[in-house]
Amino acid sequence: SAPLKVGIAGLGTVGAGVLRVLRDNADLIAARAGRPIVPVAVAARDRTRERGVPLTGLRWHDDPVALAADPDVDAVAELIGGAEGPARALVEASIGAGRPVVTANKALIAIHGAAIAAAAEARGVTLAFEAAVAGGIPVIKTLREGLAANRIGRIAGILNGTCNYILTVMREQGRGFDEVLADAQALGYAEADPSFDIDGVDAAHKLAILAALAFGRPVDFSALHVEGIRQVSAIDIAFARELGLRIKLLGIASRGPRGIEARVHPCMVPEASPIARVDGVFNAVVIEGDFVGRVMLEGRGAGAGPTASAVVADLIDIARDRRTPVWGAAASALEAAPSVPMAAH
Ligand code: NDP
Ligand code: HSE
Repeated sequence: SAPLKVGIAGLGTVGAGVLRVLRDNADLIAARAGRPIVPVAVAARDRTRERGVPLTGLRWHDDPVALAADPDVDAVAELIGGAEGPARALVEASIGAGRPVVTANKALIAIHGAAIAAAAEARGVTLAFEAAVAGGIPVIKTLREGLAANRIGRIAGILNGTCNYILTVMREQGRGFDEVLADAQALGYAEADPSFDIDGVDAAHKLAILAALAFGRPVDFSALHVEGIRQVSAIDIAFARELGLRIKLLGIASRGPRGIEARVHPCMVPEASPIARVDGVFNAVVIEGDFVGRVMLEGRGAGAGPTASAVVADLIDIARDRRTPVWGAAASALEAAPSVPMAAH
C-alpha cells in the first residue's frame, strides 16, 4: 500500500525520538500499520543543530505552518510545544487543510482542546494526542477505548516525570533541588520552561485533559487549584520518611455531589501504597470506573523513547484509518453545553 507520508514539526527531544522510532522499527510499524510510515519533511529553527539522527532526504521548512500546505505530507506531527504561536497555528492549519494531526502538546490541548477538537470533527480530520498525557503510558486510549463502558468516578496520579524524578533523587541521594532539576533538563524530561513542571502547571494541563475525557465535558483550566514542588524542602522529605510517608505531586479529579473537583498539589502518601513506589521519571494514573473498579497504569512519563512511542502509536492509527471520536463524546454537543468550571479546593 502507499506509505503514510509524515511531516514532523519540532526536532527536539520528542521530534528526534520519533524519527528514531520510525527508522529503527520501520518494518514492524509497517506491518502493524498496514503500510510504511515515512517521514518526508521536517521543521525546526536551527538547520545546523546536530539532532542525533540523520535528516538526509527530508525536506526542511523554516516555518512549521508550511508543513500543513506541503503537498507531499499526508499527516502532521506537531512536536514544538506551547499553547499559542507556531504549534497552535500548525495544528489549526493542518485541520483546515484536512490533514490528520498528532500532537504531544498538553498545554495546547488543555487550553484550546475543545475548540480544536470541534474544528477537527467538523472537518472529519483526526486529532490525536496520546503523548500529551503521561509520556509512554497509553492512558488516552485506555480511557477512550478500554474503559469506554464505564462511568468514571475519579482519576488521579503522578503526571509529571520531572517532579517525580526530582522528589525521588532528593529523597534517595540527598541532592539539592536545583542540581536535580538540571539533571532532568539534561535528560530531556523538563519543559522548555521548567517552571511549568515544578509549579505544577504541566501536571494540571494533563489533569485537565484526562478530566475532560473522563467526565465528557470541557474543563476551565484557569479554575484548577495548582501547587507545585518549589516549596518542598529536603527537611520535608526527611520528616515524611520518618513518618513512613513519601511526598508525591499528585493530580486528582473526581466526580462529587457538587460537580467535578480537580486539583494538583504535593501529597503525603503511605510508603506501602502502590503510588508511593512509583519513582524517578515514572508516572502512574489511577482510574476508577463504576464497573471495572480500580485500574492503575504505570510507565515512563517523559523522555524521548516513551513519548515517541506514544506519538508513533497515533500515527499507526492514522495509517490504518482507525478513528475514535476526538474528545470522547461528540465535541459539537460539548461545545454547545456550558463549560462547567471545576471547583478549586
Ligand atoms: P524541545 O524543546 O526539545 O524541542 C522543541 C523543538 O521545536 C525544537 O526542535 C525547536 O527547534 C522547535 N521549535 C521551537 N520553536 C520553533 C519555531 N518557532 N519554529 C520552528 N521550530 C520551532 O521540546 P520537546 O521535544 O521536549 O517537547 C516537544 C513537545 O512535546 C512539547 O509540547 C512538550 O510539552 C511535549 N512533550 C515532551 C515530553 C518530553 O519528555 N520532553 C513528553 C511529552 C510531551 P530547534 O531545535 O531548532 O531549536
Ligand atoms: N515535562 C514533562 C514531564 C514531559 O516531566 O512530565 C512529559 O509530559
